[in-house]
Amino acid sequence: MRTPLLAANWKMNGSREFAERFFTELNLEGVKSGVVVCPSFPYLGLVADAAEKSGGFSLGAQDLSQEPKGAFTGEVSASMLLDWNTRYVIVGHSERRSLYGETSELVAKKFVAAQEAGLTPILCVGETLEEREQERTLEVVAEQLQAVADIIDSAGWKQSVIAYEPVWAIGTGKTATPDEAQAVHAFIRSQLGDLGAEVQILYGGSVKSANARELFAQADIDGALVGGASLDAGEFAEICRAAV
Ligand code: PGA
Repeated sequence: MRTPLLAANWKMNGSREFAERFFTELNLEGVKSGVVVCPSFPYLGLVADAAEKSGGFSLGAQDLSQEPKGAFTGEVSASMLLDWNTRYVIVGHSERRSLYGETSELVAKKFVAAQEAGLTPILCVGETLEEREQERTLEVVAEQLQAVADIIDSAGWKQSVIAYEPVWAIGTGKTATPDEAQAVHAFIRSQLGDLGAEVQILYGGSVKSANARELFAQADIDGALVGGASLDAGEFAEICRAAV
């Protein structure tokens, strides 16, 4: 039985004041799923403190370096994230792939760097609108997964989370229908080998409290990676409550 997981991806939003207010407003009563909050790097310490005080959620980061240390100005390593009790780290978000040129090979290296340090990577995969229209969704997702499969051993999917995020649904208000999402989630699970049944596969792309319940009712949707709607503590808690 997989426990649902809800991850808030704040992206490059928020401020110190925003983060402090968010945690005074966040009420996770009645939430049965795991909850992760992924702020920008400067707020890791603040969110770590809030997580320690409340005990109701874990800390995640939005990215990491594939390198352990050295002359890589601006980068943040896995061990630096661990210093703040970070448990999860997003790798391969479509914004990093499309805006910062991250290839599937680089994303795979980040995935391994996270795992080797003891972090749980949340690997994002998903197709663009053009790729969906060309009926290449499964091919694209398979390629993104394969780049990771190529450099991990068969147990490598065990300590990991996958997030299926169709690029055309991110921040657009358009969501994949529950059936569309379920079909890709089932495909992803089939690609993960023997350990597939244990891996949490999250859906992401314009998730809100109004559409969360029907998405989470699907057999292979184990929660969500939430962007825009996670900036509102009340709305995010509602989405968390929808996962049972
Ligand atoms: P969204 O973003 O919920 O704003 O669509 C999701 C994501 O990019 O992780």
